[in-house]
Amino acid sequence: MQEQRELISRAARCLLAARYAIALTGAGISTESGIPDFRGPSGVWTKDPEAERRAYASYDRFVADPKGWWEDRFFGKSVLGEVASASPNAGHLALAELEQIGLLKCVITQNVDGLDEKAGTRRLIEYHGNIHKLRCMACDTRFAMEDYDMAKLLEEDMLPPKCTGCGGVVKTDGVMFGEPIPQKVALESDEETRKCDLMLICGTSAVVYPFAYLPHSARSSGKAITIVEINAEPTPLGSEGISDFLIQGKTGEVLPALVAEVKRLRK
Ligand code: OAD
Repeated sequence: MQEQRELISRAARCLLAARYAIALTGAGISTESGIPDFRGPSGVWTKDPEAERRAYASYDRFVADPKGWWEDRFFGKSVLGEVASASPNAGHLALAELEQIGLLKCVITQNVDGLDEKAGTRRLIEYHGNIHKLRCMACDTRFAMEDYDMAKLLEEDMLPPKCTGCGGVVKTDGVMFGEPIPQKVALESDEETRKCDLMLICGTSAVVYPFAYLPHSARSSGKAITIVEINAEPTPLGSEGISDFLIQGKTGEVLPALVAEVKRLRK
């Protein structure tokens, strides 16, 4: 505990000294909102490896048969459970507060749950999209779920939905395994990574690429950068020498403590 307090204080000093700090987040930051992660002890892939294999096949199925893929959606349920009713937790709120007080410039999240937006984070890049949105596969325009009446389209045999702008096939916005990251999202994330001199990496196993390249490319750029992990368990970023240090613990506890420490040091 003493060691955790010292590391939080070290991270707070790094934040105060940083010119451009950003946060990278993963499913771990949302577990305290009741949404399971993927690879933690109670993760959806840990508990059901078959579901992970199905997830790997899903994008190919969409490309081959978007109509069938959409029809299946009416009968399947999300592996993440009831995401729509979830609320941001103290971890999401702490990141939003760090942005509000001017110490954090951007959050790049792998999460599709929309909780950072609900927490009030303004400069947000949803690297793997958003489960509540839709996206045209041809022009990348994003739509709200409510923009389309899916039940009516199913009834009228009009699936898959089509883009109102270009007529392209519309898919859910969440990026699936094997699907390219939308170009604008990838470019903006690279740009934020180039600009930052402090990266706070919260609640991710950092094993899914290309997202996991972001800390690697920050580290190999040759510039001075501090990379801090906040996670329940060690990740390859530590063993591969990418992160400077790990604050081991829950993001819903460590991040608010970090905000409190920053405010204390600022006085
Ligand atoms: P993972 O499930 O791989 O990793 C979550 C990490 O957070 C694990 O190391 C957990 O131990 C840790 N963790 C869990 N709860 C925590 C808490 N309260 N505080 C701190 N740490 C906690 O999730 P991601 O790294 O986000 O992609 O997974 C990356 C991608 O793999 C996802 O975006 C998704 C998935 O398959 C796609 O679906 C394309």
